[in-house]
Amino acid sequence: MSELRGKVCLITGASSGIGRVTAEVLAQRGARVLLACRDAGKTEPVLRAIAAAGGQAELVPLNLADLDSVRSCAAAVLARAEPLHVLINNAGLAGLRGVTKQGFEQAFGVNHLGHFLLTQLLLPRLLAEPHSRVVNVSSKAHYNARGIDFAEVRRSVTGFGALHAYAVSKLANVLHAKELARRYGERGLHAYSLHPGVIASDVWRQIPQPFRWLMMRSMISNAEGAQTTLHCATSTEVASDNGLYYDESRVKEPSASAQDPQLARELWERSERFVAAGEAGSR
Ligand SMILES: NC(=O)c1ccc[n+]([C@@H]2O[C@H](COP(=O)([O-])OP(=O)(O)OC[C@H]3O[C@@H](n4cnc5c(N)ncnc54)[C@H](OP(=O)(O)O)[C@@H]3O)[C@@H](O)[C@H]2O)c1
Repeated sequence: MSELRGKVCLITGASSGIGRVTAEVLAQRGARVLLACRDAGKTEPVLRAIAAAGGQAELVPLNLADLDSVRSCAAAVLARAEPLHVLINNAGLAGLRGVTKQGFEQAFGVNHLGHFLLTQLLLPRLLAEPHSRVVNVSSKAHYNARGIDFAEVRRSVTGFGALHAYAVSKLANVLHAKELARRYGERGLHAYSLHPGVIASDVWRQIPQPFRWLMMRSMISNAEGAQTTLHCATSTEVASDNGLYYDESRVKEPSASAQDPQLARELWERSERFVAAGEAGSR
């Protein structure tokens, strides 16, 4: 299959899980794929597998927990004389306490804020194409977040707070896609968010055994979990959609909070301020 020949796609978190499968399928279908990953050693087997199958891929170093690394990644992409057709904000973590290098709560900082900044910096390249796509891999966990406490996202969680923080970060992924569609839809940018399914990937690495093994027995595979991302990133069926949320490759209604235009606007404006100023505590 070569229907993506000539297309350039960037995907974050392609070293494992559904990101790896998504990258491999995009390359098999002819796209040139930029793997934005933090661990070169873990990404090497993915690069080798893609090359062995005749595809084209390259590593672009990216640590979403450090906004300076996000800037370096974007600068490396923009320095290339090549277009960018699809950006897939896939990387994510769950259940981790602590803060990012600039002091944001881990899930918010990595899953939302790092991706927000990456998208902002790559927008000129995406908007240079008549039709480009941004795909945010969210989660059905976003239904568990009623809103966003903008003070809480600037400190580490305690107790069971990490699960709530994950839900908030995934709500932010849906709101970000909606606001991208509202702001840039008329200029040809199409944004999507999605729940990929409940997948037996490394995302559950924080859960101790044997609970992890028991939980993962009933989950779908990484290959199945990549399907909705691939649908949003490549299907002609969704080419005219914008700002919608998908589950099992079908449009689904996200939570009421995810459809709140004021919250989407506030998240955007606060995220702009968060990435513009220094440490989390200073905004
Ligand atoms: N698994 C599920 O059931 C499920 C359900 C709903 C939504 N999702 C979402 O699906 C997406 C992919 O997750 P997955 O299930 O495929 O999990 P995974 O196998 O753990 O993959 C996560 C990817 O994100 C990368 N990552 C984590 N922190 C990063 C950072 N600071 N900077 C750059 N990359 C970072 C990881 O890199 P390393 O290899 O270096 O750690 C890895 O490549 C996530 O956004 C997740 O929230 C998953």
